[in-house]
Amino acid sequence: MQTTSFAALAVLAAFTAAAASNAEPGISSVALDDSSYNYCNPGYPSVQSYTSLPGATLEFVQAVVRHGDRTPVSYIPNDDSTWRCDGVEEETYLHGAGESKDNTTGSFKQLVLIPKWNGKYGFSNQLWQGSCEEGELTDRGKRQHNTLGTQLRSIYVNKLGYLPANLNSTDEVYLRTTHIWRTKNSAESLLGALWPKRGITPQAAIPMHTYPKRIETMYGNRDACPGISTVNAQIMESKTYQDFLREQGPLMARLADIMDVRGSGWTTGWDKFFDVLNARHCHDMKLPCSRANSTQCATAADVVQATRNANHEWRYKYRDSPLGNDLLRLDIGSFVGTLRDQMQDHINGHAGKLKLALYSGHDSTVWPLLFVLRAGSRQSLWPPYASNLIFELWKQPDGSRVIRVIFNGEVLQLDESEKWCDMNACPVDTFFKHVEAFIPSNITSECAK
Ligand SMILES: *[C@@H]1O[C@H](CO)[C@@H](O)[C@H](O)[C@H]1NC(C)=O
Ligand SMILES: *[C@@H]1O[C@H](CO)[C@@H](O)[C@H](O)[C@H]1NC(C)=O
Ligand SMILES: *[C@@H]1O[C@H](CO)[C@@H](O)[C@H](O)[C@H]1NC(C)=O
Ligand SMILES: *[C@@H]1O[C@H](CO)[C@@H](O)[C@H](O)[C@H]1NC(C)=O
Repeated sequence: MQTTSFAALAVLAAFTAAAASNAEPGISSVALDDSSYNYCNPGYPSVQSYTSLPGATLEFVQAVVRHGDRTPVSYIPNDDSTWRCDGVEEETYLHGAGESKDNTTGSFKQLVLIPKWNGKYGFSNQLWQGSCEEGELTDRGKRQHNTLGTQLRSIYVNKLGYLPANLNSTDEVYLRTTHIWRTKNSAESLLGALWPKRGITPQAAIPMHTYPKRIETMYGNRDACPGISTVNAQIMESKTYQDFLREQGPLMARLADIMDVRGSGWTTGWDKFFDVLNARHCHDMKLPCSRANSTQCATAADVVQATRNANHEWRYKYRDSPLGNDLLRLDIGSFVGTLRDQMQDHINGHAGKLKLALYSGHDSTVWPLLFVLRAGSRQSLWPPYASNLIFELWKQPDGSRVIRVIFNGEVLQLDESEKWCDMNACPVDTFFKHVEAFIPSNITSECAK
């Protein structure tokens, strides 16, 4: 895993200068060559560098994480890669809400079957080989969350004695994931390492809370909130965005030819190219070549430029566009409100024994939060797999409370032009005032736009 991450980084660094020289100013401002950024692997909190706030008491921790390494969510025809998702035993055990011991039907194990394409039965020429679903957590992704759980244990259990060494009751931990399998499995991998001795018993089964897809708030929910699509379309109509698409059009057209992909999702943005290329890049897999002409292949420089473009696109939409704050409110504001209210409940003494709240989501969960917080350029790049954004609530000796924000193992550094607080110890009132500007007062009427 380590070897791959350094190799990946070297490739990115080597091609960044070349790609930057002929890109337009906005795009080249996306600096990917910082040695601390690696899309394939996150930074982890570390017990060596972690320090408590002097004299203060830790009262509550919220962790918002992105799932680990996954297979692509975008398909290309005749994909010749092979993905493995069955080498690490992680199963998501879903108990019913009530007691179900008398009704057990035994155990099952999920097996993904992808038959060899024989031109007759099924559609397997439209997918890779191996043992993975679309967007499934790979074995590496499970290990990333295991590492994260181990690191969190070394800090919050071993160093601070804040969390219990054994989880005998589930009053102290709250878990919410999106309805999607990879975020559930990521949470399972993380918590399995945070409390390794926890058995799967009814008493210690951690409730895995999910909102149904239709009403999900941990990412922009365009079905529930049509306003997101409206604002997104307005941003995309802007001259700045259209100029960007046009400028990068030749590269997009060449990659679409190589990958043999067409259709709206592939022409209006860079997400899908980013997805296909980086998924392979992170595994040192061969990049796609054209079926019509096998000498035409995507290159390492293409990976860098597609990554730069995808970053530019998101940063423009969510940060630099005049409509960026509107988009953030509709997209993630409801979830910001959930986090704020849970923190407030804790301060008010209404949170019982709760010590850790884990939210297992996506890049589209973590990234908008980073934009809401006004993270600096380096920490607002596309969040790597298993990215971890931690909010700590501390009580100072004088009774006042501060919030510390740690992203991928480092205290969050804000953008130079918008340093609204010190994220190592931000007074709660200042913190709430800032985030409240992004919480819709009436989500129904705002989303109806
Ligand atoms: C589950 O078990 C309970 C207790 O034995 C029984 O009353 C109930 O009918 C069972 N439910 C199903 C769906 O079998
Ligand atoms: C929790 O369980 C462990 C292992 O069974 C035990 O050693 C420990 O004393 C228990 N802690 C509490 C607070 O009950
Ligand atoms: C295949 O691509 C190469 C490189 O772009 C080009 O030189 C060659 O003419 C192409 N061959 C065919 C048959 O189109
Ligand atoms: C929110 O807006 C909707 C639609 O305009 C309205 O029907 C509803 O009463 C509002 N809710 C509150 C709490 O103001």
